[in-house]
Amino acid sequence: MKDSPFIYGTTVSIQSFTDRETESEKLKSNLLNGINTTIISPRRWGKSSLVEKVIAGIRKKDKKNKTVIIDLFSVSNEEEFLEKFAQEIIKASADRWQEWMNSGKEFFKQLIPKFSIGIDPNSDFSLSFDWHELKKKSDEVLNLPETIARKKGFKFIICLDEFQNLANFNHYLTFEKKMRSCWQRHQSVTYCLYGSKRHMMTDIFNNPSKPFYRFGDIILLQKIHTQKWISFIIKGFESTGKKIDEKMAAAIPEAMKNHSWYVQQLSHYVWNLTQKNATFTELNAALNELINANSPLYQKETENISQTQLNLLKAVAKNETQFTSAAVMQKHFLGTPRNVSKNKMILIKNDIIHEVNNALEFVDPAFELWFKKQYFNQSYNF
Ligand SMILES: Nc1ncnc2c1ncn2[C@@H]1O[C@H](COP(=O)(O)OP(=O)(O)OP(=O)(O)O)[C@@H](O)[C@H]1O
Ligand SMILES: [Mg+2]
Repeated sequence: MKDSPFIYGTTVSIQSFTDRETESEKLKSNLLNGINTTIISPRRWGKSSLVEKVIAGIRKKDKKNKTVIIDLFSVSNEEEFLEKFAQEIIKASADRWQEWMNSGKEFFKQLIPKFSIGIDPNSDFSLSFDWHELKKKSDEVLNLPETIARKKGFKFIICLDEFQNLANFNHYLTFEKKMRSCWQRHQSVTYCLYGSKRHMMTDIFNNPSKPFYRFGDIILLQKIHTQKWISFIIKGFESTGKKIDEKMAAAIPEAMKNHSWYVQQLSHYVWNLTQKNATFTELNAALNELINANSPLYQKETENISQTQLNLLKAVAKNETQFTSAAVMQKHFLGTPRNVSKNKMILIKNDIIHEVNNALEFVDPAFELWFKKQYFNQSYNF
């Protein structure tokens, strides 16, 4: 059996990547022209995939730019971040390990990095500093890419994924100011910062009282258009000797409200259940499978929601719009107008609902389907 043409769970950048022509062009042009860029979107719409795609393109064509993508997901304090940052910058700045080792002497004046060679010295090493020294002289690490780029005469593009993770560190506010004041002076380095917690990212970059306000361009990543999904799905089936007609292919992004991850996941299930031609039987079975597969996650999500928040969520699911009207508050047990506005804020902050064209919507389309089934015994039928 051929491999599935639909991929979810890992980033897609070459295979299974569709659309995003405009955003790719814009991001590429920003990064090549020294414009720092932040990418913000709800979870799993395709930020990391977009950056990987653009960086792969730059790596292929443009040797004047050194690029690096650093995932900060597992970094848990300032020191770890600085060590990882220095290590990845040094790795990206040269191809040969002899050069990596020399960089300790060449690029550091105040700090003394300690190198440990990995199993394969040609591709791996790790780096550490004396923590007391590092705390006092962290500027030297934050300025490292600029120092290296200037000395070696190239430009650096540095992409930091899950950037908002830094905001969980102790003393983040001081560190945030320091990062900003170092990085804004860099002339040979361009930063691309993005992450999965939309509200934290928005607060870091779009709050006039915060250091990273106006650090660069902000790209609010949009959903992939229906037409692009339709041709992507049809082609995916065709490339593996199966068939799905246009109406059926359109039903997939429609059910998943064009959410990148879920369109891929549902397409995969449909594809997997289809022998030759996809029919509504496969579509319905696939949707059930998708909801069942995700339901432990959704169950958990609702466990963290208070009763009045849950009631508000039910009102959203029932397409209410006037949440503070007496009738709606009474009907759904929403409490007082103050309760409503507080709960709304909490649900928005936790990325469960968002405001689209002045109305409240679920952020996660499959969670919405599960929720309606769970609480109203309402099923989605193709
Ligand atoms: N351009 C694309 N074309 C097709 N599918 C895509 C595209 N971008 C993303 N996807 C799908 O969405 C999934 C999530 O993508 P990705 O991890 O890039 O999103 P993200 O916004 O970085 O997520 P998170 O917010 O969790 O960090 C991918 O696994 C893939 O299934
Ligand atoms: Mg991501």
